[in-house]
Amino acid sequence: MFNQDQMKQIAGEAAIKYIKQDMVIGVGTGSTVKYFIDKLSTMRNDIKGVVSSSLQSTELLKTYNIPVLDLNSVGQVDIYIDGADEINHYLEMIKGGGGALTKEKIITACSKKFICIADESKYVPKLGTFPLPIEVIPMARSYVAREILKLGGTPDWRSGVLTENGNYILDIHHLDIQKPIELEEKINNIVGVVTNGLFAKRSADILILGKKNRQIEIINR
Ligand code: 5RP
Repeated sequence: MFNQDQMKQIAGEAAIKYIKQDMVIGVGTGSTVKYFIDKLSTMRNDIKGVVSSSLQSTELLKTYNIPVLDLNSVGQVDIYIDGADEINHYLEMIKGGGGALTKEKIITACSKKFICIADESKYVPKLGTFPLPIEVIPMARSYVAREILKLGGTPDWRSGVLTENGNYILDIHHLDIQKPIELEEKINNIVGVVTNGLFAKRSADILILGKKNRQIEIINR
C-alpha cells in the first residue's frame, strides 16, 4: 500500500508523458507539483520554459535551471499542471490550500490543457469538506466575511498570512456547494474578492490520480 506522499509522487511523475518538444508549460504550487517539477528537470532542454504560479515553484525551477517565463510575454501555455485540495467527478476543484490561488487561476485561464495531479484522497463526490479559500483585498476582509455568512459559510481568517499579491485569505467552512459554477461566480461578484478557490468554470481536462494500490488512474472530463 502506498502512503499519501507516495501517491502524490506517482501522480506528479505520470504527468511527464503529456510534455512534448518545445512546449510552454504552466506549473501550480504544492507538494504534488514538486514531484512533477523534479521529473520535468530531465526534459529541461526539450521545452521552451515554464510559467510559475508562486515563488515556491519558481525557486525549485531555478534550482534545476529550468527557464522561468513571463506569462505576458508568452501569452498562452500549452499545458498547465497543478494539484488540488478537492476534485469532483466533473473535474471541478477546490484549490488554494497553499495560498497561490490567484496566480494559479490566471495561468489556468491562459492554458490550452489543464491536467490535475492528485492522490486519491482528493477525489470526492461533492466539494466542500475542505474549506474554500478566498483571496481578499485587506480592507474588505470583514465586509467579505459578512457577505459569506449570508451564503451560509463560516469564514475563518488565515491570520498572519499575506499572499504574494499582498492580500488576505479567508477559509470558508460549512459551505453547501451544490452548484460549483454558480457559487464561483457569486463569490467573485462580492466587492473586495480577488479570487476564490473554486475552479469550476474552467475545470481540469484530465485528472491523474495516484492510488493506494500503487496504480495510476487517468480520468478524462
Ligand atoms: C496551492 C494549491 C495546491 O494545488 C493544493 O493545495 C494541493 O497541494 P498538495 O499537492 O500539496 O496537496 O491549490 O494553492
